[in-house]
Parts: sequence; structure tokens; C-alpha cells
Amino acid sequence: MTRTTPLNTIDLRTGGGLPLVLLHGFPLDVRMWSACAMALPPGIRAIGVDLPGAGHSDLDGARPALEHSAECVHDTLRGMGVGNAIVVGLSLGGYVALALADLYPDFVSGLGLVDTKSVADTDEVRAKRRRIANAVEESQTVDAVLGMPAVLLSEVSAAERRNLFPVLESWIRSQSPAGVAWTQRAMAARPDRTAVLEKFDLPVAVVVGAQDVLSPRDEAEHMAAAARTAGADVTLTEIPGVGHMAPVEDPQAVADALADLHQRVQARPRRRTLLD
Ligand code: MLT
Repeated sequence: MTRTTPLNTIDLRTGGGLPLVLLHGFPLDVRMWSACAMALPPGIRAIGVDLPGAGHSDLDGARPALEHSAECVHDTLRGMGVGNAIVVGLSLGGYVALALADLYPDFVSGLGLVDTKSVADTDEVRAKRRRIANAVEESQTVDAVLGMPAVLLSEVSAAERRNLFPVLESWIRSQSPAGVAWTQRAMAARPDRTAVLEKFDLPVAVVVGAQDVLSPRDEAEHMAAAARTAGADVTLTEIPGVGHMAPVEDPQAVADALADLHQRVQARPRRRTLLD
């Protein structure tokens, strides 16, 4: 199903060259990238996107599938005149970034995979997602996911960055129950996309919080190893003291890894696009 209205996007930073497209985690929206985008060096354009059903992007009646999210991101950016981009995603955003690289390989000039994984869910995780989706739909509230900051943030953040808890909670509270349920079902349906990385031979930055309990270092190493088999130029950055929300907990460290990715992509010969 093709979307008729574009997704909500925000130019988080203006600049030249290939843009960084920043895709958020669940159950959040583009705001989670603001501090990290501000920490980028001047001159790098960063576009934040609210995925379908999150922030200011509505659902358009499509069945829950991250392929649909990828299609919406692609069509929205193409509609803005962006023919190639460096696609960066945190967790859910990483799943969508990999779906984009799968479905639109000519669009993706580099990948930033932050606190995410390329494998599919286990049956147990799928069942949990269905329970949460049902609870959110039945209650018409996002109460079932309000406790997430406790698992998203690290122990160090719990001790030293207490202010992040109410911030994350307020972002979660503002999400629509329908969007939260749709996204849980879409994540449950996603396939293993490790093979996408095994074919992706452009620059990749894998970033993981050292205390990420949802997408731990093993998952980051699995993705980095897969991308290296394709001959990609891959970096793996572990950020100390940080959990599953690395760009929120240590924006500068993630911005440094993304600036390096941007430089590595820009150093390559420019790819032609259908917009040329
Ligand atoms: C996220 O941060 O986007 C979520 O942890 C993704 C997931 O539930 O797998």
C-alpha cells in the first residue's frame, strides 16, 4: 500500500553532502535524536523522520510491516529530493534501516546501526509483543510501555543522568496507542536481515552501549562480522556507561561515530541516483 501523505521529517541540522537520515527507536519519535544531531560537526545535514504511527506521522491503514515503514521513509525522502542517504537507526530504527538497504539498495550509501540487531525475534519475544499490542489496543493507553525507561537506560544513567527518566517517559506518553500496537506487530513480523549486511559493501558504523541489555554487544559483533564478509568498511564502537539509548545518554560519543561514518562515505566516489 502506497502512502498518500509523507512522513513527518525535521531538518535537525543543515549542511551539504549526503544527509544522515536518523530513524528513532520504540516507543519514541524523532526527538530522541535531537541532542545527538546538535553534537555533530557543523556542515553535516541530518534529517530526523517520525516512522509511521510515531510522533507526528500517522498510520495510513497499512498492515503492520517494517517493509511498509521502509517504503514510507524512502518515498518521503525521495519526495524531498534526496536520492541517496546515510541511513542511521536506533533499535527499531535499525530494523527499518536494514529493511531500506534490503528493498532500496541504491538509496543507502552507508549504514549506522545503533543499539540494534539484524536477527529476527524469538517466539517468546513475538508472543510478548502481541500481548503488549493487545493491552495497548484494549486500554487505548500506552500504559503497557510506560515502564520502558528502566530497561532502556543504563545503571550509570540511573545514577548520574536521572533527568533522562522523565524526559523519556514524557516522549512515550505522547505516542498514540494505535501506533504503539502497530509497531509492536510490525517488529514481531520482521525477518532475520543478517544476509542484507552480508551483501552490503559500503561503509557501516555499528554502535552499542556497553550496558545495553536489549541489543547487547554480541548482536553488534554479529552485525559487524556479517558486513565485513561483504568487504564493507566497518567500525564497531562500544560506548561505556550507556544502555539502549546511546544517542540520548551520550550524544557526543554517538555523534563522533556518525561523523566518522559520514566522512568515510563522503571519501568514496559519488553514486549516481535516479534523481541525477
Ligand atoms: C527499541 O528501542 O526500538 C526497541 O527496543 C526495539 C524492540 O522492541 O525490539
